[in-house]
Amino acid sequence: MSRLTAIMSGKGGVGKTTLTAALGITLARMGKKVLLLDGDLGLCNLDLILGVSDRVRFNMYDMALGKCFSDEVIVPVETNLDFMAGSSEYTWDTVFEGAVDTVLEDMDGQYDYILLDCPAGLGRGITYAETHANDAIIVQVPTRSSERDAHRLKKELSGKIPIWIIGNEFVWNDEQFLSPSDFVRSVDVRDLLGIVPRTVKAGTLSNQGKFGTNSDWGIFGEAMRIVAKNYVHFRFYPQSTWNKLIQQARTEGIPADSSVNKKKQQEKESLLARMVYKWGRRRW
Ligand SMILES: Nc1ncnc2c1ncn2[C@@H]1O[C@H](COP(=O)(O)OP(=O)(O)OP(=O)(O)O)[C@@H](O)[C@H]1O
Ligand SMILES: [Mg+2]
Repeated sequence: MSRLTAIMSGKGGVGKTTLTAALGITLARMGKKVLLLDGDLGLCNLDLILGVSDRVRFNMYDMALGKCFSDEVIVPVETNLDFMAGSSEYTWDTVFEGAVDTVLEDMDGQYDYILLDCPAGLGRGITYAETHANDAIIVQVPTRSSERDAHRLKKELSGKIPIWIIGNEFVWNDEQFLSPSDFVRSVDVRDLLGIVPRTVKAGTLSNQGKFGTNSDWGIFGEAMRIVAKNYVHFRFYPQSTWNKLIQQARTEGIPADSSVNKKKQQEKESLLARMVYKWGRRRW
């Protein structure tokens, strides 16, 4: 039997798809056989982050409806790593779930791990994942809103499925965000797979779809190797390990427009828009 893991988050834009791709590639490079499934139906983009969009001809729902065979829908990404696209046409509200079941049944046993990239928040995609997956990974960034949304999701999943946590986009000594120790205090460390730093390299490789063609992921890659080991062996590395990586990540540079900064950026933009509007209406 394959271990089917759903990657979820309360809040959107926290790095689910990036971490699904990075974890999948890391596991494959450790010799595990992995399938990545894009379960963000309607808003699929795992193919972009994997850099395989031009090779996608069919998606998992086409297979579910019998429009193609599995070898036509499975895109080999690299040794040990396959990808199956989700449907952009159908959403979790319009698919027939029984048909999706048949795809999972067909894939079960062919891989060590199947990672399902889920939509953000709660909804039918999450209900489906919590009833079919063996476990779930919740991705959380160091903001209070992400913490609250993740907490809400944990409550929803609790008792139904084992939950793991990955902290993503952590930065050292930036008081506008939760520190790694605040974060560790707020979760059960036994559930923590890792605390991943925010780096320019991770942002660039994911946005350019170049994780697969690149083997030097810098500090982000080191963090992902530990996350992958924890995921496979159900172990936890001490906080000092993560602190060291997050500190080191500063030497690689921190992207300015990352998701943790998006909210601030949006606030700035809306303030600017309000000012422009006011000035526009002013009678001089
Ligand atoms: N550790 C990281 N360091 C730097 N940038 C990152 C990191 N993790 C994710 N990002 C960037 O954050 C952005 C959002 O990532 P991603 O699309 O993976 O989030 P998501 O949770 O899947 O979003 P959605 O909820 O819309 O599906 C991307 O631009 C990605 O490159
Ligand atoms: Mg995503």
